[in-house]
Amino acid sequence: MSTESIGRVTRRSLLLGGAGLALTPSLGAWTARAAAPIDRRLAAGPTRARLAGTDRPETDVWAYNGTVPGPFVRLRQGEPVRIVVENRLDQDTTVHWHGIRLPNAMDGVPGLTQPPIMPGESFVYGFTPPDAGTFWYHPHANSLQQLGRGLAGAVIVEEREPVAVDRDLLWLIADWRLTSEARIAAGFGNPMEAAMSGRIGNTVTLNGAMPVDEPVRAGERIRLRLVNAALARIMALRFEGHRPVIVAIDGQPCDPHQPEGGRVLLGPAMRIDIVLDMQGEPGRRYKVVDDFYDGLAYRLTQLAYDEGAPLRAHPLDAPLDLPRNPLPEPEVGSAERHELTLQGGMMGGGALAGVGGMMGGMKGTGMAGMGGGAAWAINGMSMTGDGHAGMEPALTFQRGRSIVLTLRNETAWWHPMHFHGHSFRVFSRNGAPVPYRQWQDTVLMAPKDAVEVAFVADNPGDWMLHCHVMDHQMAGLMTVLRVA
Ligand code: C2O
Ligand code: CU
Ligand code: CU
Repeated sequence: MSTESIGRVTRRSLLLGGAGLALTPSLGAWTARAAAPIDRRLAAGPTRARLAGTDRPETDVWAYNGTVPGPFVRLRQGEPVRIVVENRLDQDTTVHWHGIRLPNAMDGVPGLTQPPIMPGESFVYGFTPPDAGTFWYHPHANSLQQLGRGLAGAVIVEEREPVAVDRDLLWLIADWRLTSEARIAAGFGNPMEAAMSGRIGNTVTLNGAMPVDEPVRAGERIRLRLVNAALARIMALRFEGHRPVIVAIDGQPCDPHQPEGGRVLLGPAMRIDIVLDMQGEPGRRYKVVDDFYDGLAYRLTQLAYDEGAPLRAHPLDAPLDLPRNPLPEPEVGSAERHELTLQGGMMGGGALAGVGGMMGGMKGTGMAGMGGGAAWAINGMSMTGDGHAGMEPALTFQRGRSIVLTLRNETAWWHPMHFHGHSFRVFSRNGAPVPYRQWQDTVLMAPKDAVEVAFVADNPGDWMLHCHVMDHQMAGLMTVLRVA
């Protein structure tokens, strides 16, 4: 790859990006500063990465700026940013800023919110993040393969005032299906798998490498930001000997609380920030285990205490609450109510398909009335792919209205359901109030779950709502909601 083209922006794309900025009403601050320098550059292209450990060959991947995951993008709450994305792949791409409430034209959905970025072209994303927290970015074009081959990175939007912790760590956890030669296995979009649990891999990486020990010091307080960047793998993390306190979900601060059963449950695309007070013994190691799938628990990493004396005798006394973000509070009583029913998939469910590339445990062949290559539907409609022009909204909301959506999972499978452009309050599950009524942008639904979420439809545009198991999205578990 020639290095001289790094950071070069084609004239055409500058104009394109410029137009996108000028047309976007809430970027007023930006148009005034249109000559401001470009802050960040991301180039998507092929490279190689040592994913599977030092004793295995490198893997051909697709990556931003040559690294897996892509560079951490650090932004400041309320401060505008411009990010140039250059496409050095041989296919169209876009970047979606997952969870960031931004203008529709910057949302990165090809056809729906922007023209795809063609090979050799660039696009300038410009927005002002309203919320501090943990977010991430990934393509929204050929997503199953582009994300599955490595295109993903974390975004940290910093609070205006620093939070009282000793260290701030981020684990972007990804899941790969590799062959014995450490190549990315073929078979993306296998229809059988798409109608079951999706492409679950056989190699879990932490920040792009085989996990090594996480060095910690007794007595310190760590904010650990967890990002599940897997295509399909759900995670449930247990921290042996420690009591994680959840302080934010999907970037949005929540009432600090310990997770149910001590397990931090992370569906694909979800982020959870925890605070860990390191109260273990100097010199000891404590396992971090993912035991979501029955009988398939594995050790993700270990917290490895150094021998040094504790940093402090007692856990830090500072409050764990993070400053809240400026989210509009929905009025649930007077809200407009709608139902979205998730349908399809193989009957039976439950069994985990595709671990290590092996199909097994198929329990039925029925496909609940789906046709034309789609395996899933929402309210009887299958929208497949990643986004394209002419996607008709399933619902239209008047701007500023409070909305309650009931998401009903009629299928036998788990689905992390994600909504673009907004965060919603998850306030009931199967009729019972959800403790802490947290804000999320992705809600993990178990088979047969019914979940109520509420939000103010305050962000104009056409926004996707889809399952973040990439095979499910591609095979029809997607819809568009319009805020007009
Ligand atoms: Cu991270 Cu449309 O998704
Ligand atoms: Cu998103
Ligand atoms: Cu799904």
